[in-house]
Amino acid sequence: MKKIYVIVLNLICFVLFSQNASFVPGKEWKDTDGVHINAHGGGIIFSQGRYYWYGEFKTSGLAGNTSLVGVSCYSSSDLYNWKNEGVVLKVEDNPNSEISKGCIIERPKVVFNKKTRQFVMWFHLELKGKGYEAARAAVAVSNNPRGPFEFKQSFRPNQKVWPINFVKPLQYTHESLSKLEVWSPEWISGVKNGMLVQRDFEQGQMSRDMTVFVDDDEKAYLLHSSEDNLTLHVSELTDDYLDFTQKWSRIEPAGHNEAPTIFKKAGYYYMITSGCTGWEPNAARSFRSQSIWGPWESLGNPCVGVDSETTFRSQSTYVLAIEGKKEQYVFLADRWKPSNPVDGTYVWLPIQFNEDKPFLKWIDEWSMDIYKN
Ligand code: GAL
Repeated sequence: MKKIYVIVLNLICFVLFSQNASFVPGKEWKDTDGVHINAHGGGIIFSQGRYYWYGEFKTSGLAGNTSLVGVSCYSSSDLYNWKNEGVVLKVEDNPNSEISKGCIIERPKVVFNKKTRQFVMWFHLELKGKGYEAARAAVAVSNNPRGPFEFKQSFRPNQKVWPINFVKPLQYTHESLSKLEVWSPEWISGVKNGMLVQRDFEQGQMSRDMTVFVDDDEKAYLLHSSEDNLTLHVSELTDDYLDFTQKWSRIEPAGHNEAPTIFKKAGYYYMITSGCTGWEPNAARSFRSQSIWGPWESLGNPCVGVDSETTFRSQSTYVLAIEGKKEQYVFLADRWKPSNPVDGTYVWLPIQFNEDKPFLKWIDEWSMDIYKN
């Protein structure tokens, strides 16, 4: 009955006002100009009565997997209807710029710093023409959620600092490392014991898929896939959110987690991540911890039902806290279309809980009424 009500309401809204009144995961999602939203690998913040959605501005064809335009922004008061606010971080024509046209900018996430009153954008940056080898985290700032954002710098985080949760002294040399067969038991145990941390110690740790999280005490953290995407790192940011404090720890060494997302409920930190299969979808994973520094307990695949082995043919990008609802969240994911990236769609689903375990269930069409308080 409720489903029929939602469909009818949606139809009336669409016919009368050409407005959306529900989420339709995986389908084309038109902005207020009638154009499919172009904000992939995105993240959302709430500021002064509006939500702002930032994402990768993709273009057509294979070259569209590189960044030819920059980071887009859309705004909304209801999460269903999004107004295009334009490109808020532009790639540069200068070939010497780190963000020169044709570089790769992925998974932009914006947070607001209450002390500096600045909007701070972090993203995954790959340098032009170097594939995914640079593995850098980059930061840009703006005084306005609508941008423009000014590029500051990029990092290999935590140069010359060991993580706080190291248990074993390291004993790997470049030579001993190269002799290990990839995925052999010795290699796996080497990764677990930090041989890749040691490899990258001087130049700084890798940072690919990432998200930024601001905790209740306003401390912020970058969660990033590191060590050849084998281990997630959590790295504390400085008070202005523009640099690293060098305090960091490892999550799930050799666990092969990508696409990290994080949220907090009833005193626990929860993470939903993906496995590591490039643009192809795989089964999501979930974790829980009482401290951001761990230890993290594995809770398995949070998806249930049809397509649960492929996260409903998508990959996580962000968990959105709904304004005005206590600890209620939306899971945001991308259905990538690498052959024509601009056609990628968005899978948004409510995060439901079975006691203290989060789960995600496919829903063809849904609205905010699904949340209780
Ligand atoms: C995925 C990653 C995406 C993108 C892609 C490239 O695993 O989550 O953000 O980097 O690989 O193949």
